Amino acid sequence: MPTYTLHVNGAQRRVDSWDPSQPLLYALRGELGLTGAKLGCGLGQCGSCTVLLDDQATRACMVPVSSAAGRRITTVEGLGSPEKPDALQAAFIAEQAAQCGYCTSGMIMSARSFARS
Ligand code: FES
Repeated sequence: MPTYTLHVNGAQRRVDSWDPSQPLLYALRGELGLTGAKLGCGLGQCGSCTVLLDDQATRACMVPVSSAAGRRITTVEGLGSPEKPDALQAAFIAEQAAQCGYCTSGMIMSARSFARS
């Protein structure tokens, strides 16, 4: 079984996958327990799975885990914590911008990418 080394939230993480085309989202959620990014449409359209890949907002449901290896991945868990949210997360909380909450992490990661560009 191929093993891929992912650089996630500042740490090297190894994931095993029989299928090199397995979406990065599945590896993040299923193997690494990072459940902030959500599976919505699975078609690259809704944005609920958005993470940063080399600081660019990226739909993790559309990226094969094999092509994410060696690149810098940031999930919403890498920004801050419930006890110490980063400024953008704090702004979402202050403005009650969660709506139902399902895709909030995707919105935050898209906004983070936009703020850096
Ligand atoms: S799950 Fe909808 S864009 Fe990835």
